[in-house]
Amino acid sequence: MMNKENIQAAGTMVSRKHNMPAGLEKFIKENSIVARSPGRINLIGEHTDYNNGFVLPAAIDKAAYLVITPRKDQEIHLHSVDLLEDYTTNTTDLKKSMFMSWPNYILGVIEQFILAGVKINGFDAALTGDIPIGAGLSSSAAVECAVALAMNELCGSGFDKFTMVKLAQKAENDFVGVQCGIMDQFASMFGRHNHVIRLDCRSLEFEYVPFNMDGIKILLLDTNVKHSLGSSEYNVRRKQCETGVAWIQRHLPEVKSLRDATMEMLDKYVLHDDILIYQRCKYVVEENNRLLAACKDLEQGNIPAFGARMFETHYGLSKLYEVSCPELDFLVTHVQDNPAVLGARMMGGGFGGCTINLVKEEAIEELVAGAAVAYKKGMNKTLKAHIAKIETGSNILS
Ligand code: GLA
Repeated sequence: MMNKENIQAAGTMVSRKHNMPAGLEKFIKENSIVARSPGRINLIGEHTDYNNGFVLPAAIDKAAYLVITPRKDQEIHLHSVDLLEDYTTNTTDLKKSMFMSWPNYILGVIEQFILAGVKINGFDAALTGDIPIGAGLSSSAAVECAVALAMNELCGSGFDKFTMVKLAQKAENDFVGVQCGIMDQFASMFGRHNHVIRLDCRSLEFEYVPFNMDGIKILLLDTNVKHSLGSSEYNVRRKQCETGVAWIQRHLPEVKSLRDATMEMLDKYVLHDDILIYQRCKYVVEENNRLLAACKDLEQGNIPAFGARMFETHYGLSKLYEVSCPELDFLVTHVQDNPAVLGARMMGGGFGGCTINLVKEEAIEELVAGAAVAYKKGMNKTLKAHIAKIETGSNILS
């Protein structure tokens, strides 16, 4: 059964000062660069980033840490401190790992640096972190941003944060093969303590919005599952959105993405062609509108209204966009009528990972205990819970 100790309160491993995790110290030499880059949550605005829409993410107090040390040759030696795995390749042939995923997040960024004209020499890298993997907290984007930041420092390439975010995203698109949007890398790099980022993914204009909900905490309920469908279905959703846009464009060439689309356009130009494409696009158009309304709620301190929109987002993701799974639906349904829960929904790409819940602080312990029992009974799975605190984005530690 879950109790207070089981709730992995954020900050257990890393303090506000972002100290180096103990396991990394032995890899640090005189000329090493150490970078930290956090995972992210997203309050609302899901699957909107690659549709040029809005998102409302924040960096959290769980991060990836990377030590990079230059070598005298052209070899690249990668080590995962947590998985006790090694991968070796070299700068002239960045071979993708077929059996391990973590080296590819590093190599993908290196490839982007090379393509951008940066001279990369051999190096050793050691990676660790406390972002739960597969929990939908973007541990991969965190690694990519840590690599970008460390390499930028090591090579003196002088890239600004925007450029590094784009390189990291491109690494995920081209080397890893997931056609993700920009949200995860942006949040990891630009996060600010106790603020969410209202990001316009079309213009990349953004604004820090203070996040202070008195007495309310962000509770992540981790399904502990990651369905293999994840990345392939993600790319399918992206294509379906593009199809919807193409159909509208036949009549309205000025519509460049679903950001420019309205429900009227969908009803007129998509509904009669394909109901599935219509539902996907409908979700995205509604979600963009929902986010704008949710930002107003936040400004007015109307947390119940904000929370109600989170439930609506979940419904859309589950029924229209179909990126939820039975475990995520179970956890959202479980908390739905609990008066201590202001809002809840699945978070991130979907098909597993966490639900994000806004919960009255005093009710968290009981809620987690009850949810764990129900989840075991209903899904025969073990629930994990994390309290996410909002932290600063990527930085160089030494
Ligand atoms: C993943 C992707 C992001 C975003 C979310 C869904 O986390 O990496 O770019 O599309 O899914 O909102």
